[in-house]
Amino acid sequence: MIAVEPDLLRRLVAEARLAPSVHNIQPTRVSLDAGAILLQDDPARRLPAADPTGHDVRLSHGAFLEGLALALGRAGLAIAELTVAPTGAAGPIARIAAAAGTQDPSASPDPLASHVAARASWRGGFTPADDTTRAALARLAGNQSDLLMVTEPQAVRRIAMLADRAGLFFLRDQAHRRELTHWMRLSRAHPDHDRDGLNAEAMALGRIEAFGAGLVLGPLFPLLDRLGLAGPVTAEAGKAGSAAAMALFHRAEGEDPLVTGRAFYRAWLAGCPVSVLADWPEANAALRAAHPLPAGRRLVNVFRIGVPARPRRIGHARLPVEALIRPAS
Ligand SMILES: Cc1cc2nc3c(=O)[nH]c(=O)nc-3n(C[C@H](O)[C@H](O)[C@H](O)COP(=O)(O)O)c2cc1C
Repeated sequence: MIAVEPDLLRRLVAEARLAPSVHNIQPTRVSLDAGAILLQDDPARRLPAADPTGHDVRLSHGAFLEGLALALGRAGLAIAELTVAPTGAAGPIARIAAAAGTQDPSASPDPLASHVAARASWRGGFTPADDTTRAALARLAGNQSDLLMVTEPQAVRRIAMLADRAGLFFLRDQAHRRELTHWMRLSRAHPDHDRDGLNAEAMALGRIEAFGAGLVLGPLFPLLDRLGLAGPVTAEAGKAGSAAAMALFHRAEGEDPLVTGRAFYRAWLAGCPVSVLADWPEANAALRAAHPLPAGRRLVNVFRIGVPARPRRIGHARLPVEALIRPAS
């Protein structure tokens, strides 16, 4: 076992914070406790409308934990002991004791570790799938038992249209809309533009589109909805429907979302989750009917996957490392 020093912790957190979190709220905090790392929850970072049960927050903690495991691996270390508190328990979420990693110099590093910096959500359109993409998807479907890959173009478009209906269902709820716009940083002048939430660049919106999104999801929404225009103006099927695949991410029913979150990060590829498809019961049921999952599995999320239609700038809006580290307990 090794005692993690503050310097090392800062390096680890700099990488772990690149993990995805719902709406990029970054709810995980860390501290040191006798050389071990404690993961803690920041109760100020919640999504009461979109995530009333805290499922997605715990899943985000899981993704951070996986990010930490990857960062430890890159530093030649590994998780030696992991103690996880049950959902809802007071105190730290998890305690992680680290030890020197494998002594075998020929052992290959975790292949995901090299993708950490390059991974980012892509919410724009995709180029048509070519043979290389199709081969990569087939390989992925073969390796990853928790992804059910839908590649048939019509089926992909149908899922994208279902996502628009699911999205509209949630957008019609004012609390939901307010919460979403609260976490949107549509202008570069927003003080948290590079720190958290969803900025225009991350949402693949140009300046004018971003301005329009603020109006549509803000004061204009009720009027647009009465005129039957809310659906068409919020539709994303044109972009999402061009994906080479929709991957249904499924995990065992009853699994701790912290564990699900670790797998979620590992399954994450070029693309982006479309949570509303799993969250809206009607969409969830329709997907399961069209694409049956193995017994005992729940549909956690759906990833749209493909090669982005235009080069993307990988920018990660993240809280600074110091804001994520709490004083030792
Ligand atoms: C549980 C969970 C659900 C998410 N759901 C969505 C979603 O429905 N749509 C979306 O565009 N991004 C979704 N995301 C992605 C986050 O918004 C994204 O991770 C965050 O903005 C940080 O950006 P990055 O992943 O590009 O670094 C989700 C992430 C998590 C962890």
